[in-house]
Amino acid sequence: MQQRVRHFPVRRWILAVVLVVSVVVIGCATIDDLAPPVDATILQLAAAHEIDADRLSQGRALYITACARCHRPEPVVRYAPQRWREILPRMFARAKLGPDEAEAVEAYVQLTLQAADLSHDSDP
Ligand code: HEC
Repeated sequence: MQQRVRHFPVRRWILAVVLVVSVVVIGCATIDDLAPPVDATILQLAAAHEIDADRLSQGRALYITACARCHRPEPVVRYAPQRWREILPRMFARAKLGPDEAEAVEAYVQLTLQAADLSHDSDP
């Protein structure tokens, strides 16, 4: 029992780990809020459009990298589908995305919106 760790460096070390872990966790939560991960609901919608999981993951990856070069990633649900149809072509040009990449981002954005709509519908 007299073995209790009282060394300052160890406490600091624990503190550092806790700090790093919280930063990572908070960081991930934020990015997931802005650009929701490709989940079962999105995949189900995607299947109906014959879009596969890899394509959507590619779209999301571009959304949080290529699209975040100049500004932070915008929350996908901030804009309505029609609004995104106006915004995206301009931003695709800015991000210099190829047609294939642009299509993946478009699919990710539109299906994420549809999935968010479904989850709102089931809200009380
Ligand atoms: C080369 C820099 C650059 C890149 C890359 C870029 N953007 Fe932007 N984005 C801007 C600037 C500058 C604005 C604000 C002025 C404007 O709306 O044109 C903006 C605005 C926006 C807006 C707000 C539009 C509005 O009308 O309020 C959204 C949403 C957006 N970007 C999404 C994206 C997405 C998605 C991508 C990836 C496909 C992307 N951006 C890539 C520079 C960039």
